[in-house]
Amino acid sequence: MALRSIYRAVIMGPPGSGKGTVSAHITKRFGLKQLSSGDLLRANIKAKTELGLLVKYRIEQEGQLAPDDVISQLILHELRSMERTDWLLDGFPRTVSQAEALDNVYSVDTVIHLDVPLQTIKERLTSRWTHLPSGRVYNVEFNPPRVAGLDDDTDEALVQRADDTPETVTQRLKVYETQTEPVLAYYRGKGVLATFSGTETNKIWPHIQAFLDKEIALV
Ligand code: AP5
Ligand code: MG
Repeated sequence: MALRSIYRAVIMGPPGSGKGTVSAHITKRFGLKQLSSGDLLRANIKAKTELGLLVKYRIEQEGQLAPDDVISQLILHELRSMERTDWLLDGFPRTVSQAEALDNVYSVDTVIHLDVPLQTIKERLTSRWTHLPSGRVYNVEFNPPRVAGLDDDTDEALVQRADDTPETVTQRLKVYETQTEPVLAYYRGKGVLATFSGTETNKIWPHIQAFLDKEIALV
């Protein structure tokens, strides 16, 4: 029997569009391994690595991106240990230069684009709580943890992300428009972009699930 090929996907969308939330559903249902550039950067910031110190102020206070070469190297390094794994990239690529760096090594099967109105997003991010070690996210109104302030799986404390202040969120949305939207056009041109529009993750998810059921059956 021929070996099934590896499935490689990317999830894109503005800050707070639900990339982390949808990625968790995809991981659970389809077994793809999620790799989140934001989670990796936050782990580096927390551990005070050289990389973490380099990007901390930029990410937390300015809402700016990490330098392309730094983040591309970091992600491509992680992907080397996932050669035989179906994967889902969350938060990378975020510029056309990053998309080209990825393309030089791997071809992407599908790009899932979460198209969520910007107004919806601002309200969400201020009520988000995160379990930093795993990247699991909760929302006090939408999907609260079983015990307030604690992660469901580990009982460890949840925190609010340093870049979820109104000022930094506004800046992150601007950066998305100028630097990341061109990546959507790039993937549209390659015929791999699948856009899902809506204001609620719970309503968008069944469409993504049906889409991936078909896609993954084909590989
Ligand atoms: P990253 O961690 O990737 O942040 P982001 O893109 O800003 O996205 P978020 O993680 O904030 O949101 P999400 O789309 O995952 O939404 P979530 O599921 O949490 O990056 C952080 C920073 O790192 C960047 O700003 C940049 O500086 C740097 N960086 C990362 N990658 C980089 C790269 N490639 N190059 C350079 N720099 C890079 O959902 C949001 C909230 O909404 C949650 O609380 C959720 O529960 C809630 N929610 C979901 N659905 C609903 C609903 N229906 N109703 C109410 N609430 C809902
Ligand atoms: Mg996220």
